[in-house]
Amino acid sequence: MTADPAARPLPALFPYGGDYCPEQWPAEVRAADLDALQDIGVNTVTLGVFLWSSLHPAPGVYDFSLLDEILEPVLARGMQIVLATPTGAHPAWMARTADVTRVDFEGRRHLFGARHNSCPSSATFRAESAEIAGLLAQRYHDLPGLVAWHIGNEFGGMCYCESCAAGFRRWLQEKYGTLEELNRRWYTLFWGHTMHSFEDIVPPSALSEHWNGPAYTAFQIITLDYRRFQSEALRECFRLEKQAIRRHSPDVPVTANLMGFFPGIDYRRWADDLDIVSWDNYPRIGHGPGRVALAHELMKGLAPDRPMWLMEQTPSQTAWRPDNPLQEPGLLRLRTWQAIAHGAEATLYFQMRASRGASEKFHGAILNHAARTDTRVVREVAQIGAEVRAAAQLRGSRTEHRAAVCVDWDSWWSLEMSDGPTRRVPYVDEITRIHQDLFDRGIGVDVLSPDADLTGYDLILAPVLFVTGPERAANLERAVAAGADLVTGFLSGRVDEDDQAPTLDVPGHLAPLCGIRVDETDSQPEGVDREIRWADGTTCRADTVFDLVTPVDAEPLADYGSGFYAGTAAVTRRDTGAGRVFYVGARLDEAGLRTLWDQVLGTAEDRAPGLERVRRRTEDAEVLFLLAHDGAHRVVLDGASTDLLTGDSFPAGAVLSLCAPEVRVLRRPLDGAPA
Ligand code: GLA
Ligand code: ZN
Repeated sequence: MTADPAARPLPALFPYGGDYCPEQWPAEVRAADLDALQDIGVNTVTLGVFLWSSLHPAPGVYDFSLLDEILEPVLARGMQIVLATPTGAHPAWMARTADVTRVDFEGRRHLFGARHNSCPSSATFRAESAEIAGLLAQRYHDLPGLVAWHIGNEFGGMCYCESCAAGFRRWLQEKYGTLEELNRRWYTLFWGHTMHSFEDIVPPSALSEHWNGPAYTAFQIITLDYRRFQSEALRECFRLEKQAIRRHSPDVPVTANLMGFFPGIDYRRWADDLDIVSWDNYPRIGHGPGRVALAHELMKGLAPDRPMWLMEQTPSQTAWRPDNPLQEPGLLRLRTWQAIAHGAEATLYFQMRASRGASEKFHGAILNHAARTDTRVVREVAQIGAEVRAAAQLRGSRTEHRAAVCVDWDSWWSLEMSDGPTRRVPYVDEITRIHQDLFDRGIGVDVLSPDADLTGYDLILAPVLFVTGPERAANLERAVAAGADLVTGFLSGRVDEDDQAPTLDVPGHLAPLCGIRVDETDSQPEGVDREIRWADGTTCRADTVFDLVTPVDAEPLADYGSGFYAGTAAVTRRDTGAGRVFYVGARLDEAGLRTLWDQVLGTAEDRAPGLERVRRRTEDAEVLFLLAHDGAHRVVLDGASTDLLTGDSFPAGAVLSLCAPEVRVLRRPLDGAPA
């Protein structure tokens, strides 16, 4: 089902708007709301996300009247439509069918309630969801303004029921072929885990392998395989709906709203099925713009040749967290342009108007309960609405990043459930930490699989690449041979795809490439740290995890200054003659990470924390995004440019001042192109 990007019609307008639940309002309210929304630049609405109980009120009974009714004023206004399948929440009657609801980690079969709650292996759910998706496509495939199909909602969650157990066994049989092969690769001799029949295999849960919640398993590989299987089972649900839609709607793009760094699904394995990669951005408190930038690039990197959309962000605040901060004036605009800078070809919100009841009634919306149009939020949304029109000309534009960051779900899963060396290195946090200084220097990154073709990059970051078999190591080696510098380090190369430790020096298959061996790794509790001494005499601290590094074919760059292993190498560099390989054996503090990047990049200059710079190429121009996330900045323009947001023109050499949360989007025609 790989999409043909060339065949896809583009939305006429840069999609701006988002989730809209007009089913709760009478006709006159819908009309007034839509008029108000259109006035402030909304041109696209997502409809039908949770409408299943209305569309399919009883077994075999379908009723499209409510959807027809809410579509009518949208169509009358010529708006663009993202039509959702409603399968993010099954109808109450369906939950009474034996296999539809999930069985949780503790083995409890759930009753009707909440959403995102259907068993992904349920034959009933699969058949019913494909059926409703097909009926929707049959009825609405030629809706004027239909710009995308949106399947389900935020796929995710785990199930441990009998159907999933059976599906898991089938999946394992396909993967391993024979029981002997499964026993060998699962290393079942340990703790007497030999499986005598596929029927012996049960989902790893609180009732079987897990002794302290989902992260503590007595048998990592079965848990790793179960996560892979659940991710695939959810994908199969997506695919069944997509196939049903495709029978009636052959060329309208199909997407599912992903969630950035979401641990539940290996999104890379979904990438081929998504015509548009869309995602929902709700940065957590403490997750700064560097992490959001990584998340955008993670999403963009799933399918670099296909469009990426920001399917949801809140125009104001969330409601589902203990604290739900407002966005300061200008922050929404900054976040919106940050998304576009990283390739978003639509920026949509959850939601158009605040619900009157139920759990999201206090979630931010463009229109509040009183539907006022004279609020700060409406003013900001309107300003952005006027400005994003200019983003249509950026469609299909590209970044030319020289650096790549490797992100890998297997490593994420395997690292975070590993017994030892430490449980205190959250995978994404660590990647975010090491990336931060590059971000502060304005060095853009692609976020890719460690198995992607990485030749051609100048710099590759592969931190905490816990799972690294021989092929993955060879792939990194090829990129280094082609000239890339590689930065890796502790908790990398620890296991192969079967979660077995290689019978090699640490870091396993990466050891020869790094030119080191690690015989011991110290792991210390919170509050304990070690001094790190760089060759130039500067020092920093490191905590949590400390590899005792023996350089074999590498230079030490820093050693430990404290601990019984003082004097042992902590950071090394191997010059391969092509690229260089840096091994960072300890979890350096911020100062240490800055020193590291000074050494890798050979410069201490060019740091502008708080100012993000992104360059995108269109066919005839380079577009420079200046995103002031924090503080005040001055930027000297390297070419005559026009600000796409204000229309202001600047000569080469002009000095621009920006103060957070300010944005400039500066277009500079490529040589020979008209201004
Ligand atoms: C998610 C969901 C929406 C809504 C928002 C609220 O992204 O997809 O349905 O619940 O969260 O933030
Ligand atoms: Zn299940």
